[in-house]
Amino acid sequence: MIGPPLLALRGVSKRFGAVQALKDVDLEIREGEVVALLGDNGAGKSTLVKVIAGVETPDRGVIEWEGRGVHITSPRIAHRLGIATVYQTLALCDDLDVAENLFLGRERRCPGVRGRLLRLLDYGGMRRQARGQLDAMGIRVPDVRAPVASLSAGQRQTVAICRALLGRPRVVLLDEPTAALGVPQAGHVLEVVDELREQGVGVILVSHNLGDVKAVADEAAVLRLGRNNGFFHVPTTSQERIFSAIIGATDNP
Ligand SMILES: Nc1ncnc2c1ncn2[C@@H]1O[C@H](COP(=O)(O)OP(=O)(O)O)[C@@H](O)[C@H]1O
Ligand SMILES: [Mg+2]
Repeated sequence: MIGPPLLALRGVSKRFGAVQALKDVDLEIREGEVVALLGDNGAGKSTLVKVIAGVETPDRGVIEWEGRGVHITSPRIAHRLGIATVYQTLALCDDLDVAENLFLGRERRCPGVRGRLLRLLDYGGMRRQARGQLDAMGIRVPDVRAPVASLSAGQRQTVAICRALLGRPRVVLLDEPTAALGVPQAGHVLEVVDELREQGVGVILVSHNLGDVKAVADEAAVLRLGRNNGFFHVPTTSQERIFSAIIGATDNP
């Protein structure tokens, strides 16, 4: 028997003034599943990501976490449930090194009195944990002491994903993670997505690139003008079929 999905959205709607950004949208994601979220500009993809991340609150609809209704009214609640988000604009600090970026805002103190009384930070421990997390994800960053400014765009994206993983999330939202990358670097990010699936994480991958979707996604959910326009089992569906759902040549209510 299969249990309930890790995360399910049912009939979610969101309006901004005159714009109906989302209308009766459904989405499901299971453990170890990569769901691509596709749609033309303005289709509502980023709004949907923000609703799941607790940045926007839906006007209508239900969100279920492991089969139970939840109200994700703030990013903190999303985080507590186990939802991590990597936004398109990368929030990394250029002048800090890789390890410092991974632990930004959640620095570890030294054990014992050195941490408690002197409030010394455990740089060695943070570097070791950073190295371990990067290695576990197959992320190729040679030196965790290298400033982030010295990394390639692809390495920066994988470091941003790695940062999101330190909180041990169960669902990761990636909004266009390969949009700014060249082909080899995008390939590297997709390898990391594969690794997340291996680890049983549910991934929602917003993408414009059908090649990426074919390479890595299990399911694809298409949005068109704020509504669902089809769910596709990616390995058995042609890119043409998904593409025509995106542009609205076919309606898949
Ligand atoms: N904060 C906002 N205020 C007003 N309109 C918004 C806001 N956010 C998104 N929209 C509108 O909602 C629609 C969906 O936008 P968005 O979710 O960003 O689409 P996508 O990410 O698929 O390109 C667009 O028409 C957009 O202009
Ligand atoms: Mg968007």
